[in-house]
Amino acid sequence: MKLSNKLQKLPTQFFAALVQRVNAAIAEGRDVINLGQGNPDRPTPPHIIKAMQEAAANPQTHKYSPFRGIQELKEAAAAFYKREYSVDIDPDTEVAIMGGSKIGLVELPIAILNPGDTMLLPDPGYPDYLSGVALGDMHFDTMPLLEENEFLPDFGALSNEVKNRAKLMYLNYPNNPTGGTATLEFFENTVHFAKENDIAVVHDFAYGALGFDGKRPVSFLQAEGAKEIGVELYTLSKTYNMAGWRVGFAVGNTEIIEAINLIQDHLFCSVFPAIQHAAAAALNGDQDCVEEQRAIYESRRNVLIEEAHRIGWDVKAPNGSFFAWLKVPEGYTSEEFADLLLDKANVAVAAGNGFGEFGEGYIRVGLLVSEERLIEAIGRIEKLELFKDETASITK
Ligand SMILES: Cc1ncc(COP(=O)(O)O)c(C=O)c1O
Repeated sequence: MKLSNKLQKLPTQFFAALVQRVNAAIAEGRDVINLGQGNPDRPTPPHIIKAMQEAAANPQTHKYSPFRGIQELKEAAAAFYKREYSVDIDPDTEVAIMGGSKIGLVELPIAILNPGDTMLLPDPGYPDYLSGVALGDMHFDTMPLLEENEFLPDFGALSNEVKNRAKLMYLNYPNNPTGGTATLEFFENTVHFAKENDIAVVHDFAYGALGFDGKRPVSFLQAEGAKEIGVELYTLSKTYNMAGWRVGFAVGNTEIIEAINLIQDHLFCSVFPAIQHAAAAALNGDQDCVEEQRAIYESRRNVLIEEAHRIGWDVKAPNGSFFAWLKVPEGYTSEEFADLLLDKANVAVAAGNGFGEFGEGYIRVGLLVSEERLIEAIGRIEKLELFKDETASITK
């Protein structure tokens, strides 16, 4: 049987090839340090697991969930936004429960656009944004995220044509893959720009808990008027190391929330109720585990950047997320450099061009292994003697 035309249009998974190569190298018995993926390495905090165990033992959770999720989780999401960001959310009309934010990102274009409509996507950006574009038969234009602009898009650089045809914009801060963060002022400008051009905004806040150097990531909904034109997607995957549990939510604009709920009424029967109870426990519970996790990533980041500087690699520290976005040495493309690191140093990284045209010249490194392994990875790269001449020019 042949795949449908639609499925044939799905983008090829750039990183599937990397995963295959890494697995093949490991199968050969090579000790590969895998910095290529984005899977949190530490376990879910015990109090959340306990809440799940108790909920799973209650037969009430074995039934179908209400289509639009349990009230307790919607109220927990609203209370979380009030407590963490001073944002008022109505649990009944401004929250949609989702089986992870990836689902929201893929279904949203289908819920609020029509085939042929155009989206604005960041470049580099999270590759799964393209899945919704393909499944909805949409078009997209890109907004370059450049280092000289702190990896924020320059709305002023978009042509009138692009501004006129765009119906929906995706943003993501702290950013995967660049590690850039947004300011409240940037989000205020975004609201202004979006209203002026009649563009809906979806802010992907997957790394919302992960800001460094004492700077807390800002929620898009903190910008005045944000709820009038957009939603924010929040996931428990990274904040509470619950990536495998598949739970998140959207908050914000009532019409967009209704559209998400409506499409989900037809696609899913919400999330296993026990997981929803555990997610509510995570959002309502003690947040010390979140700070502990954040501090671990910050410490790993510091080790990685210090070690890179030590060997003469002129790289900048990310402001947030659990990724570092490192410039490749002169004379290499992203893919050539990533291949070299895997072949000659047994260090796997993600080539920047896999995240878009403007990712060329970078690699993405995940801060998802211990400090010892990060030190070892840089030690292995040092042996390739690539950075000798650059040592003098490094600025911290
Ligand atoms: C930028 C970004 N958005 C969304 C997701 C999806 O998160 P989840 O589906 O686990 O909520 C990820 C996962 O890696 C991500 O990096």
